Amino acid sequence: MTNFPVETHPHPVPASEREQLLENPGFGKLFTDHMVTLRWSEDQGWHDGKVSARRPIEMDPATAVLHYAQEIFEGMKAYRLGDGGAALFRPEQNAQRFQRSARRLAMPELPEDLFLEAIETLVATDADWIPPGEGAALYLRPFMFASEVFLGVRPAKEYLFIVIASSVGAYFQGGAAPISLWVSSDYNRAGPGGTGAAKCGGNYAASLLPHGHALSKGCDQVCFLDAAEHKYIEELGGMNLFFVMDDGSLVTPPLTDTILAGITRDSIITLARDAGHEVREERYAFAQWKADVESGRCVETFACGTAAVVTPVGHVKSEQGDFTIGDGKQAGDVTAKLHTQLEAIQRGESNDAHGWVKRLG
Ligand code: PLP
Ligand code: COI
Repeated sequence: MTNFPVETHPHPVPASEREQLLENPGFGKLFTDHMVTLRWSEDQGWHDGKVSARRPIEMDPATAVLHYAQEIFEGMKAYRLGDGGAALFRPEQNAQRFQRSARRLAMPELPEDLFLEAIETLVATDADWIPPGEGAALYLRPFMFASEVFLGVRPAKEYLFIVIASSVGAYFQGGAAPISLWVSSDYNRAGPGGTGAAKCGGNYAASLLPHGHALSKGCDQVCFLDAAEHKYIEELGGMNLFFVMDDGSLVTPPLTDTILAGITRDSIITLARDAGHEVREERYAFAQWKADVESGRCVETFACGTAAVVTPVGHVKSEQGDFTIGDGKQAGDVTAKLHTQLEAIQRGESNDAHGWVKRLG
């Protein structure tokens, strides 16, 4: 039995137009023909799942999410394989993180098998939207929000789960060129006991002002420090960070409740250890990073995430001074090697020793 019967779009984008659009998709602005919807209510549990034509959702102005931001989401990709097939990368990890986010936001947990069936049904329906080309993929955005019409402050009794899909190229316009970071000393992303480890829209809303400050300083992204001591590096608004030392070891901030447990982060730790690198998940002070780059002990830094894959960091600006990592112009050797290795696995071009690639169809 299928939980997501497909009602095919009566007027999908014609193939010739779609192929033209896929030549240069950008990031997050080109959408496929269909979407998944699934409802939850206290009385009926999960119900009314389907795949149908992508369209606007009508909402009452008192819909709870519009007022108290009870909303969570995921980000994952479907990749085109060399033989023409399609695959997902560790999708069960996204399903499980979605459940953890739901728990933190007092929302119902979507069973893992329903999450995966929703994703797979949408990718199968819109498979022609997976763009060809290096670095391109079909970005999947599952999300869930409080759809009950009620203004009291309490967990809603109705939710809507939706999956949309967007054909994407590289997240950063510069492609694989190193990005620059502004280290914020005024704003934090998350505090102990807060929602930093959940993938909820509110975290991103709160990061936009500091992100704007980073842009005004001529930087691409903001790097957040811990809220309690304002000393230790945490992560970017949408990516985790790794530091490569001159002895080949890697350091990445540990998973506290203020950091998102990135699936790319976890995969990089595994690949680096497989390749013989020591990887330490430990707190790393901003002042130590700056001193280590200046002394030559820290030789590379990179950010990673589903959207950004592996992106080198070339320049850092802060109120404590600015510094350049490596030559600031290209990825270091370890960063480049891990990037190539990860993408080769995701595209089915390399041995998938850990069983991460889920082929579809
Ligand atoms: N950190 C934050 C705050 C994010 O939004 C993301 C993106 O999803 C990541 C890290 C990287 O996570 P993943 O590798 O699972 O995409
Ligand atoms: C992702 O990497 O999937 C994210 O959600 C991060 C966002 C910056 C697009």
